[in-house]
Amino acid sequence: MNQKIVVITGASSGIGRALAFEFASRGSKIVLAARNLDKLKEIEAKIQSMGNEVLAVRTDVSIQEDCENLIAKTVEKFGSLDVLINNAGISMRALFVDLDLSVLKKLMDVNFWGTVYCTKFAMPYITQAKGSVVGVISIAGYVGLPARTGYAASKYAIRGFLETLRVENLKTGVHVLVAAPGFTASNVRSVALTADGSSQGETPRDESKMMSAEECARLIANAVVKRKRELILTFLEGKFTVWLKKWFPSLLEKLTYNHMAKEPDSPLK
Ligand SMILES: NC(=O)c1ccc[n+]([C@@H]2O[C@H](COP(=O)([O-])OP(=O)(O)OC[C@H]3O[C@@H](n4cnc5c(N)ncnc54)[C@H](OP(=O)(O)O)[C@@H]3O)[C@@H](O)[C@H]2O)c1
Repeated sequence: MNQKIVVITGASSGIGRALAFEFASRGSKIVLAARNLDKLKEIEAKIQSMGNEVLAVRTDVSIQEDCENLIAKTVEKFGSLDVLINNAGISMRALFVDLDLSVLKKLMDVNFWGTVYCTKFAMPYITQAKGSVVGVISIAGYVGLPARTGYAASKYAIRGFLETLRVENLKTGVHVLVAAPGFTASNVRSVALTADGSSQGETPRDESKMMSAEECARLIANAVVKRKRELILTFLEGKFTVWLKKWFPSLLEKLTYNHMAKEPDSPLK
């Protein structure tokens, strides 16, 4: 990864922030994208002090022009682009029956369309570099997660999009990685949207028992280096769940319902 140009969306917090430091520690040139420019500037300064070249670009990935600008600014500064990590994402918690449709649309705009826009504008450069396109999905991109219809729909959609892009690029040398973290300590549950679109404000789960964002970032970076097709993180909630989905889907539905119903203030009651 030394001297490779790596663009990371959602770099102001959690897994994206950890990915920025992980790739910086491997000698990459880093482009940081998110809406909160103050947070990006702090991370930019820290990465600069590590001796890496770095650029922060304020980007709302749900806006097509912002994604076009992100890639244009990257190429203007670095002349090329090797790795795009589509990590920016938001979550939700509400039953579909209660959900304002604008919430589901917002989930698709940020998670799915954000990935599509950034990939579209980056693709010519990544093709030239025979580089990598990465999508950070979730186990909810393999298994329906109750009270997260919009989240699961957006993550399944990203998986369908990227798996197709991979086949289309079988002979171009472009590498496509679909990375699915399990529960990872971050801000994602605190800012998750409720039925009316307001943030739920605090996490309903014990974040201290989860994989750290740093460990998650290290494993994603290893998968990029090894040019893996798929990465499913965590054993019980990740690999075992995806295995159960394939062989015992109705059992998994019951287990998932019961597990998610135990969350404090779960809408499944
Ligand atoms: N943590 C988990 O348990 C977990 C599990 C599976 C998958 N994931 C996935 O991992 C990814 C990273 O999430 P995280 O857990 O690190 O959550 P996080 O701490 O909340 O970070 C989310 C990042 O996405 C950015 N973002 C949100 N809306 C955006 C927009 N419209 N445009 C640009 N950036 C936007 C946020 O930055 P700004 O607010 O500054 O824009 C932030 O940097 C997400 O795709 C999430 O679905 C997380």
